Amino acid sequence: MRNPLSDRIVTIPPSGIRKFFDIVSEMKDAISLGVGEPDFDTPWHIREEGIYSLEKGRTFYTSNAGLKELKVEICSYLNRRFGVFYDPDHEVMVTVGGSEAIDVALRAMLDPGDEVLIPQPSYVSYVPCTILANGVPVIIELEEKDEFKLTPEKLLEKITPKTKVLVLPFPNNPTGAVMVKEELEKIAEIVVEKDLFIISDEIYAELTYGGEHTTIAALPGMKERTVLINGFSKSYAMTGWRLGYAAAPRLILEQMLKIHQFAIMCAPTTSQYAAIAALRDGDKDVQAMRESYDQRRRYLKHAFEEMGLECFEPYGAFYMFPSIKRFGMTSDEFATRLLREEKVAVVPGTAFGDCGEGFLRVSYAYSLKNLKEALSRISRFVNKLDGKA
Ligand SMILES: Cc1ncc(COP(=O)(O)O)c(C=O)c1O
Repeated sequence: MRNPLSDRIVTIPPSGIRKFFDIVSEMKDAISLGVGEPDFDTPWHIREEGIYSLEKGRTFYTSNAGLKELKVEICSYLNRRFGVFYDPDHEVMVTVGGSEAIDVALRAMLDPGDEVLIPQPSYVSYVPCTILANGVPVIIELEEKDEFKLTPEKLLEKITPKTKVLVLPFPNNPTGAVMVKEELEKIAEIVVEKDLFIISDEIYAELTYGGEHTTIAALPGMKERTVLINGFSKSYAMTGWRLGYAAAPRLILEQMLKIHQFAIMCAPTTSQYAAIAALRDGDKDVQAMRESYDQRRRYLKHAFEEMGLECFEPYGAFYMFPSIKRFGMTSDEFATRLLREEKVAVVPGTAFGDCGEGFLRVSYAYSLKNLKEALSRISRFVNKLDGKA
């Protein structure tokens, strides 16, 4: 029999996040601080809207780009929160999570050999989706000394005549780094000068703790160069509803929509109705969850300081990215031993790029009770390594 598989997919490794969770799921009394998923239930009024839509028999396909009502709400939300204006009829599409939007945007924009700049550490899908879209991923290694922000120098270093797209992954998973307006302005200048396009993954836009999020699409001359990606998973605790969206200039969105049309048809109808309720009446829920994450964030920062784990202060998403370099172990060794010896699961920084070596991703999307227990176990482990126990 011939090999049924494509070389391209076989050479892509599976996500490094999953490995630990398979072990955790079989380990009694293990605590996971590993998953990047809100611990909150979807707010009840949003769930109710989903249930109501089922009761009303709204169980059919929607139009490919999504329900008009939802697209109108998305555009008014983007305008209200971030000061960008999009036309609901031509510049926004509803997708199966931000995940689909990332994939479709890359497939719509890349020709074979086009280079995509991907700052790392960052979310696990950008590199494989670039490869699957025939593009060439070019990694920009971000550093702790820059608070894991993308600097103009680092960007300029990696631009070649083949560079077409820059992925802008802020607020960042796994580092929690954010980029403020003045920093984005410098990036925008280079993007215009070098004639690049941006895929801006703003899935954590609502989860910032040091000031409001700025979207690069709102800066002068940037809307026409940006595909803005967002979704409901993180801000409204709706991961399982699988709903996100992309907003982009018509020229790009029309082509993205074709891929979505043939591959997906439309995002889940029930989820689309629920999402309308989220955007109309969900601000107070987002606010309450943000405050709770912020409380946990400050608790963790303090606890890491107390146990001598160096960690720069993250102002976005729900992750801390402490350094474990002083222990002379790889991230994978540290995480594996922590799991085996203290039954706490975290993710090695290397799951998000080679430059994540020496760091761990610790999610604080867990209850304070769980965080406290996990932190006391981590502290015991660190003391043991330091020879104090
Ligand atoms: C940075 C980032 N982008 C996109 C996604 C995809 O989210 P979803 O497909 O649930 O919208 C995630 C999920 O963890 C993420 O962390």
